[in-house]
Amino acid sequence: MSGRHASPPTPASLAEFRRGGPVTTYTKTLRVHHQVLAACVMALIVSGFSLQSEAVSRVGRYLGSAAVLGVVHRIAAIVLVVMFVHHLVTVAVPAVLAGLAAARGAKAGVIARLGAAWRAIPMLPNLDDARDALHTVRYFAGREPRDHRAGRWHYRSKLHYMAIVWGVPAMGLTGLILALPTVVPFQLARVLGLVGLAVEPRTLVAIAEIVHSHEAYLVVIVSVVWHFYRVLVPPRRDVFSGQLTLAEMRRWHPEWYDAHVAALGYDPLASPP
Ligand code: HEM
Repeated sequence: MSGRHASPPTPASLAEFRRGGPVTTYTKTLRVHHQVLAACVMALIVSGFSLQSEAVSRVGRYLGSAAVLGVVHRIAAIVLVVMFVHHLVTVAVPAVLAGLAAARGAKAGVIARLGAAWRAIPMLPNLDDARDALHTVRYFAGREPRDHRAGRWHYRSKLHYMAIVWGVPAMGLTGLILALPTVVPFQLARVLGLVGLAVEPRTLVAIAEIVHSHEAYLVVIVSVVWHFYRVLVPPRRDVFSGQLTLAEMRRWHPEWYDAHVAALGYDPLASPP
């Protein structure tokens, strides 16, 4: 992956790099989104599993009655969906529109424009990420001497982001079906009927039950077990502070660091001859 510079420096990151760091990795908006997401997901996991499982509900009883846990679950779900829509409106949609405008300016065709829209969100995976993931597998199998060199966004970060892009709408819709079973599945069945899909409302409720509970296990595995391990061993704090020192940037995002060195013409961390 070395040399392909999938994460070019921005004017702002290059200016911070030239000054000797720290370099901004998470803007204030992204930090607020992360903190709200983390708080909501943890509240949803604790309240949801306490309500669902006999064993966990013993733990849940210390937190409150089933009625309290139900209210906590619904409030966290609403805040999470509001945050998700805010992320789409303030971060994702403007990036896609900028990508589309650039492609239109270059008189690109429809396929190229769609590609530009996809690439405009740096957290969406591309073929290079598939190559990096394969490289890691080969590294773990002893077929590569070292792991791949990460750019600004690691493929694991992108997988996590994709899990949220899919997970929030899936959990939101299935949660809505389960919370309002006499309204939502009936309205949804009617809409599906309009496009020629005849589905019984009770079938939709059964599907929602399966998806909601199975996706919840996936959330625990991806967001708690995997994510916590990844950000706590060794610990990194930039999602709270917003910035990385140059040494941390070189350690965690070596290819991104190299792209800045190439743009600047010298390596600020290189030891003097
Ligand atoms: C107290 C618990 C948490 C801590 C200490 C924490 C810490 C961090 C840190 C340090 C990063 C930056 C890592 C990087 O850029 O590679 C990060 C990124 C991120 N976190 Fe968390 N996090 C927590 C909980 C959560 C939860 C519950 C979720 C959501 C389900 C979440 C979702 C994300 C996402 C989507 C990113 C950006 C992509 C990634 O690097 O995975 N975090 N978090």
